[in-house]
Amino acid sequence: MVVGGSLTEGLDVKLDRDTIVEGLSVGSYVTIDGQTDRKFFGLITDIRLDTADPNVQRMPPPAGDDLLAQVYRGTTVYGTLRVSPMLVLEGEVTEPRPVKTVPAHFTTVYRATAPEVELIFAAEQGRGYEIGSSVEDDALKIRLDLPRLVERSSAVFGRSGTGKTFLTLPLLAGIIRQDIASALIFDMHNDYGYTLKGDRGRKFKGLKQLGSIASRVVIVTLDEESSRRRESRPDFALQIGFDQIEPEDIETLQGVLALSDVQVNALYALQRRFGKDWVRKLLAEQKDEDVDALLSQGKIAEGTYGAMQRKISKLLRLKFLRERAADDFVERILGHLTRGDSVVIEFGSMTSLDAYVFVANFITRRIHARYVELKERVEGGGGPEPRQLVIAVEEAHKFLDPQVVEYTIFGTIAREMRKYNVTLLVVDQRPSQIAAEVMSQIGTRITCALSDEKDIAAVFTGVSGAHQLRSVLASLDSKQQALIMGHAVPMPVVVKTREYGEAVYGEYATSAMSPADRQAYNKRRLGRDDADSLIP
Ligand SMILES: Nc1ncnc2c1ncn2[C@@H]1O[C@H](COP(=O)(O)OP(=O)(O)OP(=O)(O)O)[C@@H](O)[C@H]1O
Ligand SMILES: [Mg+2]
Repeated sequence: MVVGGSLTEGLDVKLDRDTIVEGLSVGSYVTIDGQTDRKFFGLITDIRLDTADPNVQRMPPPAGDDLLAQVYRGTTVYGTLRVSPMLVLEGEVTEPRPVKTVPAHFTTVYRATAPEVELIFAAEQGRGYEIGSSVEDDALKIRLDLPRLVERSSAVFGRSGTGKTFLTLPLLAGIIRQDIASALIFDMHNDYGYTLKGDRGRKFKGLKQLGSIASRVVIVTLDEESSRRRESRPDFALQIGFDQIEPEDIETLQGVLALSDVQVNALYALQRRFGKDWVRKLLAEQKDEDVDALLSQGKIAEGTYGAMQRKISKLLRLKFLRERAADDFVERILGHLTRGDSVVIEFGSMTSLDAYVFVANFITRRIHARYVELKERVEGGGGPEPRQLVIAVEEAHKFLDPQVVEYTIFGTIAREMRKYNVTLLVVDQRPSQIAAEVMSQIGTRITCALSDEKDIAAVFTGVSGAHQLRSVLASLDSKQQALIMGHAVPMPVVVKTREYGEAVYGEYATSAMSPADRQAYNKRRLGRDDADSLIP
């Protein structure tokens, strides 16, 4: 029974004597019948033992005196719940809405039944993505609204080994299967493409091995040798030519390389003087007379040039950099993405921070430019809407750290690219290291167990009623459980994430695309109306 509380602090609910306190857990749902024909949905956020008579605490019944304990229980001593009200269902309306009020004193509270929870989380049975099941009832599936998920940036947080990658990979597979967006995945640990490494050397299928979506997944490697060793099957190896690099690409690493502003300015001076040839000139062992002239004219100081050359040649020793690339590979990646394929960029053994940040920025800057251009064309009335794109980044704090984010393109994407149909899917262990301005843009937060206080606080910044949810987060198992809140779910929910393995593979044996979706997809892919008849 509701006995007190408030909308912001949560309701106090007194348990009746027949309710077994141990049988309740934080994170589970209750319903409250209002006075009128309203029904409230709430989440248990705390469980407490209370007493009406403080003397009982000082003089409890002697151990073993069951009779006296029984007498006290339910009268002088009782259990209470803290319930955070979340949604309300009013009269004839079948769609639950966020609460703006609380139920009155002495209204009755029930454990939510399976059909009630289903009503909230399975509204879109067909389109919804099954991320897992209720922690209390395996049969009760919890579904995410994928179109809403990709509409804004989202995040998967959790300590190492909590199941972030095992949750994110099938989530991306679901997005690809339902053709909701193209995905670009910066796969620092080589998990998403061909093989996902599990505990004790177990191997799981990567996106490229999931039958019905395999043809729409392109693996690009930065390290062919590593791909060969791992028997991953990349579609092509990325090469970047010196002539394709712009000073902006280096500037994004200003923090990582410790470049001074003077050195950054010198990059631009070099490019102005030598055009596409600037990197080649800078890296040449012998300064040629053009460079000497530049230095002797005092355009760039000798010392600046030397320092800059040292730092940059160290960076550009990466294997995938060439004097000339065999193709414009970023253009190829863009082509795949805009036609509807998804691209996994495997880093192989190139796991240095410089390499990761450099490549991710190099590619993403160009995607940003292209999407802005496409969108402007739409506004000018001359082109189709750019396809929704989700950029997934593991180890996201490397880009979204407050020190780095101001230089890199990822801050811009988090802030404003939603309008251009591009959003981020951030996967990270340390939410506290992600810039606050980026965190505030994250619509859906999927959080596995976290232990650091700072990280826990970061996950809840900007979430109303957050302090009540902390206890729910603290109660998560150390693996395969997550608290999901935000845009893609009607109310916060704790899920046991779905086991990734045979059952999931089975779903990819047949294509879930409807004939109409498939037709539209093929048309976009080949750029002609009769495309569907051309593809077997
Ligand atoms: N949904 C799942 N299905 C099957 N196995 C899982 C699932 N979630 C977690 N696991 C098991 O837990 C292990 C750790 O999960 P995972 O690799 O996803 O952790 P992580 O959070 O990505 O860790 P890190 O931050 O170190 O990358 C996996 O190797 C796997 O064996
Ligand atoms: Mg991982």
